[in-house]
Amino acid sequence: MDRLRLQGGHALHGTVPISGAKNAALPVMAACLLTDKTLSLENIPNLTDIRAMLALLEALGVDCHADLTAHRLHLSARFVKNVTASYDLVRKMRASILVLGPLVARHGKARVSLPGGCAIGVRPVDLHLKGLEALGASITLEDGYICAEAPKGLIGGTVTFPVVTVTGTENILMAAVLARGTTILVNAALEPEIVDLAECLNAMGAKITGHGTFTITIEGVPVLKGTHHAIIPDRIEAGTYALAAMMTHGNLILKGRHLGQLLPSVFATFSQIGAHIDQKEDQVTLSSSMLRACDITTEPFPGYPTDLQAQVMTVLSLAQGSSIIRETIWENRFMHVAELTRMGADISVHGLTAVVRGVSELQGAPVMATDLRASFSLVLAGLMAKGETIINRIYHLDRGYEAVQDKLTACGACIERIPAE
Ligand code: UD1
Repeated sequence: MDRLRLQGGHALHGTVPISGAKNAALPVMAACLLTDKTLSLENIPNLTDIRAMLALLEALGVDCHADLTAHRLHLSARFVKNVTASYDLVRKMRASILVLGPLVARHGKARVSLPGGCAIGVRPVDLHLKGLEALGASITLEDGYICAEAPKGLIGGTVTFPVVTVTGTENILMAAVLARGTTILVNAALEPEIVDLAECLNAMGAKITGHGTFTITIEGVPVLKGTHHAIIPDRIEAGTYALAAMMTHGNLILKGRHLGQLLPSVFATFSQIGAHIDQKEDQVTLSSSMLRACDITTEPFPGYPTDLQAQVMTVLSLAQGSSIIRETIWENRFMHVAELTRMGADISVHGLTAVVRGVSELQGAPVMATDLRASFSLVLAGLMAKGETIINRIYHLDRGYEAVQDKLTACGACIERIPAE
């Protein structure tokens, strides 16, 4: 397995082009199953999770033309030959569950492996299944697979989510666009990736209103057409590089459309920590000369995202004073703490709360990446630590951060990928 080697202590200066959002691209790719016409996508990030979704779509019979170095895809689900998402494909990427809603909506049936647990928590899908049942699907669980059927098509209904679920909202939204009648999603997720999906679906001929609010209304239509859609920038990648600028007391220009609107509470939090932020329509400039402690609670959008919790913890480990970080979305998302502690951070965990006492420096060490966002928290630590840091198991990073070492090297970081022996 490849590893990353970092020499800490270099302030980052330069421009970082922010890639398309993985978490917007994956549901939009699954939406190709809703039409027999071609869906053309731009600004698709070149990541292993995208390749996993392409493999799944191909296994279902989708004709996929991908040029990921140009960030383009053409997807045509004219002939869907199979409605089964196998365990082998789903276990590699949990977002595979996103094919469930589209397959039932257009083909009347789907068989999708239950995703099971993962490093950051149990990750249930009960609300996806309840939502589909509310639209008339019958659901059974057989041999670890979700079997959903609606031979006469789905029927619009009201789906109330007891907790905010991003993937659940996306799955039911895609199912409802081809249902007969009106569907109302109550307590829907507000995430920008949901708005991006709804806009793509509307361009395909769907009738969705209210996306970006707690109540989404969908008037079902009989068929959808193809369209051309550009994915929004990755707000988590942007937030992560913003933290890299802060961590190293550097100055970075993050290039991407409307980043300020995608990260409202995040930039407010970063200002409290000590960042100077200058926002323009298609770029944000970020620098910082000192780091102050700050209390943070992860929340659904527009609150502080769980996907930036590990990274901000690293930055706060070098801040003046003590910070309290509460994780409210996932039950096991502090695995980076043990690794940061090995690098000299002073962090204690009490259930879903971490207390981070700022220290004056971190020391390089060999560490192990445990999940996607935790991996970058270790990269941030390595950027500022004294001496050398070796990060093992970086395949997690390749799932969600495009060209990490190229982007960081271009801004002055001393980082190198060591290929597997
Ligand atoms: C969640 C995050 C998303 C992040 C992603 C990967 C939120 C609201 N969602 O999205 O920002 O990008 O993880 O880290 O911040 N739940 C159920 N039953 C379900 C579905 C979800 O109980 O059927 C619960 C989960 O256990 C969790 C919460 O709802 O506590 C949010 O889950 P959900 O938004 O569905 O997860 P992701 O879509 O993976």
